[in-house]
Amino acid sequence: MKSELRLGIAGLGTVGAKVAQLIERKAELLAERVGRSIRITAISARDRSRGRGFDADGMAWFDNPVELAEKGEIDAFVELIGGSDGVARQAVEAALRRGIPVVTANKALLAHHGVALARLAAENDTEILFEAAVAGGIPVIKTMREALSANEVGRVYGILNGTCNYILTRMEKEGISFDACLKDAQALGYAEADPTFDIGGFDAAHKLAILTSLAFGTEISLESIFIEGISKITIADIVAAAELGYRIKLLAVALRTDSGIEQRVHPAMIPARSSLAQVDGVTNAVAIDSDLLGSILLAGPGAGGAATASAVLSDIMDVAGGFVPPTLGLPPSRLQPYHRARMRAHEGGYYIRLAVFDRVGAFASIASRMAENGISLESIVQRKADRKAGEGTAPVVLVTHDTTEAAIRAALDGLSRDGHLSGEPQMIRIEDLD
Ligand SMILES: NC(=O)c1ccc[n+]([C@@H]2O[C@H](COP(=O)([O-])OP(=O)(O)OC[C@H]3O[C@@H](n4cnc5c(N)ncnc54)[C@H](OP(=O)(O)O)[C@@H]3O)[C@@H](O)[C@H]2O)c1
Repeated sequence: MKSELRLGIAGLGTVGAKVAQLIERKAELLAERVGRSIRITAISARDRSRGRGFDADGMAWFDNPVELAEKGEIDAFVELIGGSDGVARQAVEAALRRGIPVVTANKALLAHHGVALARLAAENDTEILFEAAVAGGIPVIKTMREALSANEVGRVYGILNGTCNYILTRMEKEGISFDACLKDAQALGYAEADPTFDIGGFDAAHKLAILTSLAFGTEISLESIFIEGISKITIADIVAAAELGYRIKLLAVALRTDSGIEQRVHPAMIPARSSLAQVDGVTNAVAIDSDLLGSILLAGPGAGGAATASAVLSDIMDVAGGFVPPTLGLPPSRLQPYHRARMRAHEGGYYIRLAVFDRVGAFASIASRMAENGISLESIVQRKADRKAGEGTAPVVLVTHDTTEAAIRAALDGLSRDGHLSGEPQMIRIEDLD
């Protein structure tokens, strides 16, 4: 057997403590599988006095994770603190400068600094592994980087935030409002006290930024992602979606278009019969369309100690086995610059819900605003009056044929100016999926 792999783990919370417990519990199995034993020699967290569910005797304790990365007697550094900057970033950089491979679950760090870190790793003849950073336990990074390496990817998309999917699933199944579902999600520990990061779509965007780079061999470009969260989705939209044969999901999509790569995170209506529409609750799913393999869907637990630790451990075992591919699938010098397709050029169908004042000329105004922007309608339905929308208004739902985001925005601006609408129009993109 080869000499043991000595690990330093910084961050012993939900994921870090689980990783350490599993290394203790599965020591024999892991050693048998990689032909070498894996031992934690150094650890770091904030509170030294807290029990973490594993035996820390013989492990060097560091109050400062950067010091662990710089001075620990380790062959690999595991960063499970979180955050795009601060000590997590400093510690990862310190380990890379020493030429030590890094395993991390930190999507924020990679989405913001992935390319710079990949360069630093390559300069020091080492790499970063991050299977757990996207969709928790689902092995999507390895699938894209290894199993699909001979494919050209046309589109990668999925449900990347369990909190949003839990909320939307409950709204649909139980007819409970967004606010009530969010409170339950917080009580159950699925949503943070400040839920903006999840429900605003930012968490999904971090994961998408990483997937886009792997899918298209481009530099990571978080700032180019169009992001819209789920807080404006109402029960009226969910009911209308069901009647139209759709379900509403927070979708993250990256696709190649003639004008560049489109990256977007927003609520979308997807066909109720599609595989992705069956993904309920906190489950995550990633679909990949590629030239040789066609379409595949990977679904499973996107969070949680054991599921995320499963992905972290698979990276640790790759390091132990000496299998360390380039961080972003290609050497950093071969990554292409990211060319952004503008959201205004996005093409697809749209669902629009309007509260229209019950007066002469309102419908004519809708028809003419759509026509002047070249938008053809698949359907237009006046729905049962919604008391919340206000007295004297009629809810109207439009579904368009494929058009552009620019045309829809121009039509809705025109309609608002015409003075026939009460409140803001609701607009949800329709995604064409199998
Ligand atoms: N939880 C999940 O299901 C999940 C899923 C996928 C990816 N991830 C990612 O995994 C990473 C860890 O998440 P988590 O849920 O395990 O977080 P967590 O439970 O909040 O744990 C964070 C750990 O970092 C330690 N820490 C924080 N600041 C520190 C500092 N300045 N110095 C030393 N240690 C410090 C904390 O120490 P104390 O314990 O002493 O406070 C704690 O042990 C994040 O990047 C997250 O995005 C998590």
